Amino acid sequence: MSKATFNPTRFNKSKNTPFNEVMDAHLSRRNFVKRGLGLSAMTAFGGFGLSACGSDNDDNSTPETPTTPEAPTQSSAVLGFESIPGSLTDSVAIPAGYSAYVLAPWGTPLNSKAAAWKDDGSNTAEDQANSVGMHHDGMHFFPLNDAGDDGLLCINHEYIDQSALHPTGPTYDTDGKRSVIDEIRKEINAHGVSVVRIKLESGMWEVVENDSYNRRFTGATVMDMGGPLAYSSYLETRYSPDGSQARGTLNNCGNGYTPWGTYLTCEENWPGYFVNKGTLTDEQTRIGISTSDTRYGWDHLAGDDDERLDEFARFDVTPSGSSAANDYRNEANGHGYIVEIDPYSPNSRAVKRTALGRFRHEGCVFGKLEEGKPITFYSGHDSRFEYLYKFVSDAVWDAADANSTNRLTVGDKYMNAGTLYVAKFSEDGVGEWLPLTLDGVTTDGSTLASSFDSQAAIILNTAGAADLVGATPMDRPEWAAVDPFTGTVYLTLTNNSQRTDSTNPANPRLNNNFGHIIRWDEGDAATEFSWDIFVFGSPDDGDADTNLSGLTDLNQFASPDGLAFDARGILWVQTDNGASEVTEETNDQMLAIVPSTMVDADGNQQVVSADNQTQLKRFFVGPNGCEVTGFAITPDYTTIFANIQHPSNWPYSDKADEATPAGVTVRPRAATVMIRKDDGGAVGV
Ligand code: FEO
Ligand code: CA
Ligand code: CA
Repeated sequence: MSKATFNPTRFNKSKNTPFNEVMDAHLSRRNFVKRGLGLSAMTAFGGFGLSACGSDNDDNSTPETPTTPEAPTQSSAVLGFESIPGSLTDSVAIPAGYSAYVLAPWGTPLNSKAAAWKDDGSNTAEDQANSVGMHHDGMHFFPLNDAGDDGLLCINHEYIDQSALHPTGPTYDTDGKRSVIDEIRKEINAHGVSVVRIKLESGMWEVVENDSYNRRFTGATVMDMGGPLAYSSYLETRYSPDGSQARGTLNNCGNGYTPWGTYLTCEENWPGYFVNKGTLTDEQTRIGISTSDTRYGWDHLAGDDDERLDEFARFDVTPSGSSAANDYRNEANGHGYIVEIDPYSPNSRAVKRTALGRFRHEGCVFGKLEEGKPITFYSGHDSRFEYLYKFVSDAVWDAADANSTNRLTVGDKYMNAGTLYVAKFSEDGVGEWLPLTLDGVTTDGSTLASSFDSQAAIILNTAGAADLVGATPMDRPEWAAVDPFTGTVYLTLTNNSQRTDSTNPANPRLNNNFGHIIRWDEGDAATEFSWDIFVFGSPDDGDADTNLSGLTDLNQFASPDGLAFDARGILWVQTDNGASEVTEETNDQMLAIVPSTMVDADGNQQVVSADNQTQLKRFFVGPNGCEVTGFAITPDYTTIFANIQHPSNWPYSDKADEATPAGVTVRPRAATVMIRKDDGGAVGV
């Protein structure tokens, strides 16, 4: 979630050892050398052993068989820009030799059903349903040709700013209830995902209006359910009595994509959109369904004469009918998932992949692929003291599936059946993935079968099941990213100011205001991993116990959030910071680093420290008030796309680095920013 909408409630009431305590113990003896690299390198490159044998083959009696070139274990990328200073303006900041332009801001029409965006907030719900949504977040670029000048941008819209969305904010009646139907519909339509056809014309990406690929998924779009909960009684509603469908996707924060060309959008802070005014179920209590009101009051016009198909009533999940088929007690059960979208098939429905768990999903990333091996997806639960999960497919990867045109059928194959695990971090730099299955062992020596009667029941209350097996509570897991060279997985832990439970008083991160990035390598068994901490956020003038990574004014950051590797092995780190020690120095930003090249003489991966911190470079700073989130890059690396969410007084013009003049106020618009080199070359190097 954005810091602007973060729910500070601690929903996890379990007594599992917080990650803080584990980290404290680890920190006290860490040596900044990563364990398990050799293991990772071997497992990351399936052909490694074979190709080495082939090239060393001295048996001349048989013809040499062509071998696959050995995959490199290090990136060759070298960051080719100077780290830029912090910035506190109504403008973006970029390195010399680069340009940044605004693309597809909130309200950009996608087709002729939408009127042009109006700067007085008066566009209708129908306009919004046919225009780019609000508060851009996760994003991915899907090419349409090999020339790198045509493609589809999928963009998440996490939440809304009601005051910017409407002329003068939301309208209430004298009872404090929402009173204008079109306003609520507009809000629902400003959520979800946009699929936008873009083309590169004269060095500028432009939205292609009325393109047949353009489409919107909103908070009301009908979606199919896949995996253990599909067709279960848990999803039975008056709208979908057979439990096969759910309506809408909400609070789409981080994203992912699949090896077969589909987009994954992640439902994060959705529980607050629903209210149960009666007695919460255990599962609803654990995840945090509201008890007083819905987030934006979308249920207030339930029963209105103009309501269509219970479009507002469904947000009130209080049991009211004689059975689940007569009310919406199960409506929220259709939310909290990874949702798969095939952007290349404009008539396809989105599918909610329930097998990957139900919680406040931040992002979703797949592990390094190996032919003939299962696919792993990682996803964090962004709330204080929540957990990190992975899903391992039953089906093994067949590279031919990358070229299938039945992409959602391929999704069925890899994402509907498999094993969901939750992470337990141990003090000595190793960890264990604990299966969330009926035979998963609980901390009291029993199994999850004692508490759940089906896998669907486990999925419905994923976090509750994770409590029982003894998962490690973390400092708000946000995005994960996988190094394409080493297979190492990186995860942002954005912050946790409630960290008071450390038993190590010497540990400087007791109150984790600045966050950190952890990483791990999978072990030989699906249940093993090894981990260390890659970098700690900090102000540059933090004391030695705070600035553990030796950050300077040129790379100080806090609250890492968005995270992505590009195929060159460059790791892009985005921030959503609220810590004043850093916000007084710079707005939110995007930094870059090439982790796989940071190795010692023995090839061990290093973490960021005072000795090497110049490797971490600030590439981009957003305008005042914003969060920088969402990363996409064209296959030729000549354009990076990054999103600006909730700016306060931006954009002033199409030129993203043109500051809004002093004294001028604009209606703020979240937008994608396209960043290109002036010479048209590859960005970042
Ligand atoms: Fe939507 Fe956890 O950031
Ligand atoms: Ca985020
Ligand atoms: Ca965040």
